[in-house]
Amino acid sequence: MPLSLADSRPEAIDLGELRAAKTSDCPWRMIKSDTQKTKPSVAVLGAGRLGQAFAIALQSSGYSVVALAARRRPNAEKAAALLHKVSAHSAGKPRPKSVVFGANQLGELPETDLVLIATPDDAILETAQRLSSLWKGRKGNTVLHTSGALSSEALAPLAAKGFQTGSIHPLISISEPLSGAAALHGAFFCVEGTGKAKRLAEAIVRDLGGHSFTIKPESKALYHAAAVMTAPHLTALVDLAVEMLSACGLSKAKAQQVFMPLLESTVNNLKASNPQQALTGTFARGDIATVRRHLAALSGKELADALAVYKLLGLHSLRLAEKNGLDAKLLGEIRRVLRSGRT
Ligand SMILES: NC(=O)c1ccc[n+]([C@@H]2O[C@H](COP(=O)([O-])OP(=O)(O)OC[C@H]3O[C@@H](n4cnc5c(N)ncnc54)[C@H](OP(=O)(O)O)[C@@H]3O)[C@@H](O)[C@H]2O)c1
Repeated sequence: MPLSLADSRPEAIDLGELRAAKTSDCPWRMIKSDTQKTKPSVAVLGAGRLGQAFAIALQSSGYSVVALAARRRPNAEKAAALLHKVSAHSAGKPRPKSVVFGANQLGELPETDLVLIATPDDAILETAQRLSSLWKGRKGNTVLHTSGALSSEALAPLAAKGFQTGSIHPLISISEPLSGAAALHGAFFCVEGTGKAKRLAEAIVRDLGGHSFTIKPESKALYHAAAVMTAPHLTALVDLAVEMLSACGLSKAKAQQVFMPLLESTVNNLKASNPQQALTGTFARGDIATVRRHLAALSGKELADALAVYKLLGLHSLRLAEKNGLDAKLLGEIRRVLRSGRT
């Protein structure tokens, strides 16, 4: 039976059991997976959408997620209960439960080979600062964060203390842990960092059946802005289109439903060819009379945002149409109509 978050119930976890164990005899240090390959032990800080999905995916790939932390400890408990439930449902014997922590207990985290920070972007630097002051005696572990916009530089306080630091950012959109964990398998990941941290990030991606690539740390904000254009902005664009169609009298649910095959066929075209070749429709054909009709239909105040986006993306579509050889005079006329907004 498929699992859902609604099924998961927090379960008490004995912190004393963990504190009593010395690092050297911790069963989760460098555990052996089913394939007998040594896998690093992991602590996940930030048990939200991505943190939980990562924990489930890592666990199902043979990693031992020994600790989970959230800002509020009960949220880490819920995540640990779900992780345990997933391991009990999958083949083989269930793994030991992860130990849970709140943000004010980070000094008590067990020493693991990898610490994966999946907090919101704005909490990463502060978390790194806190860990570097709390972990006085620790060294040699690897710390990775999952932010798309920040580079390993956000972990500088830990790098200064001798930790290997890096980032591992999956290019997928995760709204809940179970489908998110499935989507991580086979995803593309942007990884960067110090030598050992980057190698570990690449090994994790390989273990998840994904594909890694790297960019310069200083390019991460631009890289992430591109990712935002592809996913959240696409969602926002579809929402604008749904608003437009509901202004034609369809319910919002129906409007979204009827757009899906159109959206899917566009994604399929983009899988097969580049955007220039995949472009279809009014701007690809240069239908200037239709552009004028669209602008008139969008002229009402309540569709002002949709009109602004229509014009901006229309101008970009024209650049693609130009590369496809659309007549230069026609192109110029459509550009003038879009820029002036006069029909
Ligand atoms: N979701 C995605 O699609 C996605 C995809 C790629 C990358 N990312 C990256 O992954 C990171 C997390 O994103 P998300 O969407 O998973 O966020 P999220 O669902 O809001 O989860 C954030 C988690 O961090 C915890 N947290 C907040 N401050 C903390 C602190 N100071 N110490 C410990 N834990 C803390 C929160 O605890 P509480 O539960 O108690 O509030 C929550 O569990 C971000 O860097 C994001 O850019 C996300």
